[in-house]
This record gives sequence, structure tokens and C-alpha cells, in this order.
Amino acid sequence: MALKLLPFLALVAQAADYNIVNLDNNTLKLLTGHSLPAFVRFDRDYPYGEKADAFKAVAQTAVGAQVLIGTVGISTYGEKMNQDLAERFGYKSPDKDLEYSDMDNIFPKYRFFPANGGADIEYTGPVTADSMTLFLKKEAKIYFGLKGTIREFDKLAADFVNGKSGKDQVLKMLCRKSIN
Ligand SMILES: *[C@@H]1O[C@H](CO)[C@@H](O)[C@H](O)[C@H]1NC(C)=O
Repeated sequence: MALKLLPFLALVAQAADYNIVNLDNNTLKLLTGHSLPAFVRFDRDYPYGEKADAFKAVAQTAVGAQVLIGTVGISTYGEKMNQDLAERFGYKSPDKDLEYSDMDNIFPKYRFFPANGGADIEYTGPVTADSMTLFLKKEAKIYFGLKGTIREFDKLAADFVNGKSGKDQVLKMLCRKSIN
């Protein structure tokens, strides 16, 4: 009995990621387009892998910043949660439900919702924590404060120690980052 519960518990643990809000057709309406800008992922309901890790890292970096990080989990079975949102944002045609096999072909997608009801835009850059964070800083003008900056510097230091970057490379990156 206890063993049978394990996979279920694993799913529950996965469902809640730090600083990522679960959005559906109601919470999206309540939480976007108001006082906070939002960066929202559209993906399968339990995303995993490199892209999911990159998004988690963005959410970690965004702790303390004035931006809501959200996810719309789209399911292809049961209640087919959030297929309506996929359709509203142009990720699904009205006449056909998304199937399990569609998910990896189409998703994840990312959209930025400005504060106070400006038009939302799709993020089409690389799916890496650094690129998405840079997008939020530069295009969305979100101030990440010291915490985000320290994370980047930490990574530079780690790369240097692990021999992934030489001294010159690190210095160049440091100069570039401090201009950003
Ligand atoms: C909103 O989502 C719920 C749950 O999936 C669904 O029952 C409802 O029909 C959706 N509303 C609209 C307007 O699509």
C-alpha cells in the first residue's frame, strides 16, 4: 500500500516548484495584466528535463524580483486541463484536442505578460536560464537586484574553478555582466 503511493507522492512533489505559480484559465486572469509583470510557461502538466530545469533556475533567480513566474500545465487526458488556454494563445487548433504526442513537438512555450494589461508576447530565445533571465532584465526591464547578479557571478566563479573558462574569458564575461 505504502509503496503504491510512492509514484503519486513523487508527482505531488514535482507539481510544486519554488516560486512557480500554477495557472489555469481563472488564476491566469486574476494574476496577469495587473500590478505585476509575469513570465509564463505553457507545457505538459509535469515537465521534466533540461528545459524544465532551466525554468526552475529562472524562478529561483527571480525570488525577490517584482515578477510572477507561472506555469500553465496542459493535460492530454481526463479533464484535459488548460487545453482552452493553449487554444487561446494559438498553440492548439480549435477543432482538435492536443494529444500526448503533440506535447513535445509544440511545447514548452513561454510568454511575457507586462503589468497593467499591455499585450503579451512570446519569448522565442534560447531555453536556458541565462537567456531567459537576460530577456526579463533587458526586454521586460525587471530588476533582479543583487541576488540574480550573485547567481551569475557564482556561476562564473564555478566555471573558472572547474576549468571551463580561462581567466581572460571570465574577465571578459565579468565586464559584460557588469554593463548589463
Ligand atoms: C476553464 O477551465 C475549466 C477546467 O479545465 C473548464 O472546466 C472550463 O470550461 C474552462 N473555462 C473556459 C471558459 O474555457
